[in-house]
Amino acid sequence: MKLLPQTLPETLPRLQLHALLRRMPKAELHVHIEGSLEPELIFALAQRNGVALAYPDVAALRAAYAFSDLQSFLDIYYAGAGVLLHEADFHDMAWAYLQRAAADGVLRAEIFFDPQTHTARGVPIDTVITGLARACRRAQAELGVSAVLILCFLRHLSEEEALATLEQALPWREHFIGVGLDSSERGRPPGKFARVFARCRALGFHLVAHAGEEGPPAYIHDALDILRVERIDHGVRCLEDPGLVQRLAAARVPLTVCPFSNVKLRVFDTLAQHNLPALLDAGLCATVNSDDPAYFGGYIADNFVQTFDALPQLGPSQAYALARNSLEASFATAAEKAAWVARLDSCFAELN
Ligand code: HPA
Ligand code: ZN
Repeated sequence: MKLLPQTLPETLPRLQLHALLRRMPKAELHVHIEGSLEPELIFALAQRNGVALAYPDVAALRAAYAFSDLQSFLDIYYAGAGVLLHEADFHDMAWAYLQRAAADGVLRAEIFFDPQTHTARGVPIDTVITGLARACRRAQAELGVSAVLILCFLRHLSEEEALATLEQALPWREHFIGVGLDSSERGRPPGKFARVFARCRALGFHLVAHAGEEGPPAYIHDALDILRVERIDHGVRCLEDPGLVQRLAAARVPLTVCPFSNVKLRVFDTLAQHNLPALLDAGLCATVNSDDPAYFGGYIADNFVQTFDALPQLGPSQAYALARNSLEASFATAAEKAAWVARLDSCFAELN
């Protein structure tokens, strides 16, 4: 029997809602693994690898996490990734993330990684991919979490560099299921990467792209029309274009929304001003994700709890819809999704 969100209670006591948001089965579809690198791990890896840091201690590094926009964050994020040198470093970073994700009710994680951030420093691409892939296999075996990788191209670099990165990665293609597009969006329309996405599509990869975070709604249209992506990462600015909203809703294009990120990078001033309720009301397939949890104040369950606290319009039926959207928007098989949705339904059935 299919559980309908409408049959759920309209509200729940605060602590009960928090517990539900934390334990409900969910997928995380927008997390940059380099953005899960906690300051403590940055310092531990710096020591292990003999890398000098620009900050004297963890507190000083954390204090530098005061961002005014996407670029001011990216400068610190790329610097933090400089401690990653060996296969074990990539494994340890992803394993730390996956343990936290499992504790947050994540059954499926589709994890972004930025190979160019590492190859530019002389780290071989196989070191990056094999370390991350080992953590993903371990997550399935030890945590029961299905974890897969999505290779992202940096949009501040050229398409030629993206094509070269793809060629370098192809010997390890069984370790990643798709490609994405991240880094600074303003002034860098998706069309710049038309050829590399066409090639990835021909190779059978899943396709996603960041669009409509700081960039205009036109970039979301372009990501769909030119890059032919299956999901839009962020996409919150779609509400500025009613025709686009209709298009996204009709085609059920998932949006991987990241509330903490949007507030830290000043897309919205506060969580209370976030447009997540409006996205859901517009019939969009929105999901909640952490983006860069070590930098933005918390992991996926914290994003859910604090966003629901800030927006009283959000209750159990929105929680169900968001979790269900995340499972259905994943690139897992239909059988896997059905099994996860059944677990979600039994979690919510306990409320009635
Ligand atoms: N946007 C673009 N690039 C990124 C982000 C983001 O939120 N996080 C890490 N790289
Ligand atoms: Zn992102």
